[in-house]
Amino acid sequence: MFIIQDLANFYIKVNRYLLRKAIRALNSLLKLSEKRNFEITIGAPSLKSQKDIVESASKYDMFTASSENYYADQYWQLIEDVLPLNQQKVKIVDLGSGQGRMVQKFLDNFPTAEIRCCDISKKAISDLQRNITLSPGQQVKAEISEYKSFVARQASSSVDIVLFTEVSFYSPGWEKCLLDIYRILKPGGIFVSSHRSRYFNAMLLLSLGHIQAAEQILKHNSGRLFGTTDLHFSWNDSPATREILLAAGFSVTRVAGIGVLSGIKGDPHELLAEPGTLSEDELNALMGLEKQLGETVPDSGRYILFLAKKD
Ligand SMILES: C[S@@+](CC[C@H](N)C(=O)[O-])C[C@H]1O[C@@H](n2cnc3c(N)ncnc32)[C@H](O)[C@@H]1O
Repeated sequence: MFIIQDLANFYIKVNRYLLRKAIRALNSLLKLSEKRNFEITIGAPSLKSQKDIVESASKYDMFTASSENYYADQYWQLIEDVLPLNQQKVKIVDLGSGQGRMVQKFLDNFPTAEIRCCDISKKAISDLQRNITLSPGQQVKAEISEYKSFVARQASSSVDIVLFTEVSFYSPGWEKCLLDIYRILKPGGIFVSSHRSRYFNAMLLLSLGHIQAAEQILKHNSGRLFGTTDLHFSWNDSPATREILLAAGFSVTRVAGIGVLSGIKGDPHELLAEPGTLSEDELNALMGLEKQLGETVPDSGRYILFLAKKD
């Protein structure tokens, strides 16, 4: 009697499991068909629409999203060996700081950090102010500002480290600001930036079934990627980005892909590994793989990290 009851319960559980799997698969299919409805167009965006859209995109809080915290750790582990960790009064500027995940990394590691940061999004700056934890002796000044005008207002040779992570993707023409970023760094100062690759965008569009648009990715370095918005994006290949940094006077000390084997929801690598769903041991194993292979295949990352120096 008990065996029959157990078998019946087992049968019900299996059926529920299969039903849940079928519903999930159906939902993904529906989402995929929604995503197929996009296109690329090329042309200069109006600043107003770009600002409005960036503002609404910043509703996703990268400070609290667990996968994003994993990627913040990956940035940190790839840059910490060149940072002046023992220096007193390190001056750091974070351009397009978002909700402050990188600001917090630097606060955790520089007991007397002075950080100035900006973001075009009012919401991102107010989230940052709520998110970060300051110790006595640390200072953070956060401004709602476009990064180019923010850099123009900083004194020459006044900054030890400039951060510019995952911002250029949303800002075609970012290259024009490089000379000014170089100007505000002290000699020996470090520029940490990350950029979207052509290869990643091609994978993204192909994974969404948009082969025509993926071809456009080859011909251009910027454009409108998702037909539902007016937001313009920029991308490039790592050798070309390295040349752009060299032309601005920097020496480039490291180029590495971030997330070459993993992704957040919607990324082409999502099915390989999604950090937010992994245990601590799995995250450590993934970090080891990604740190080693990131330098071998930088362009396959979600972003490509460049570590550059003002000599
Ligand atoms: C993907 S998030 C990256 C945030 C942060 N740098 C990080 O790594 O956590 C991109 C951020 O860039 C900001 N942004 C985009 N264009 C900008 C611009 N022209 N000036 C200032 N911030 C900008 C967005 O509002 C958004 O918060």
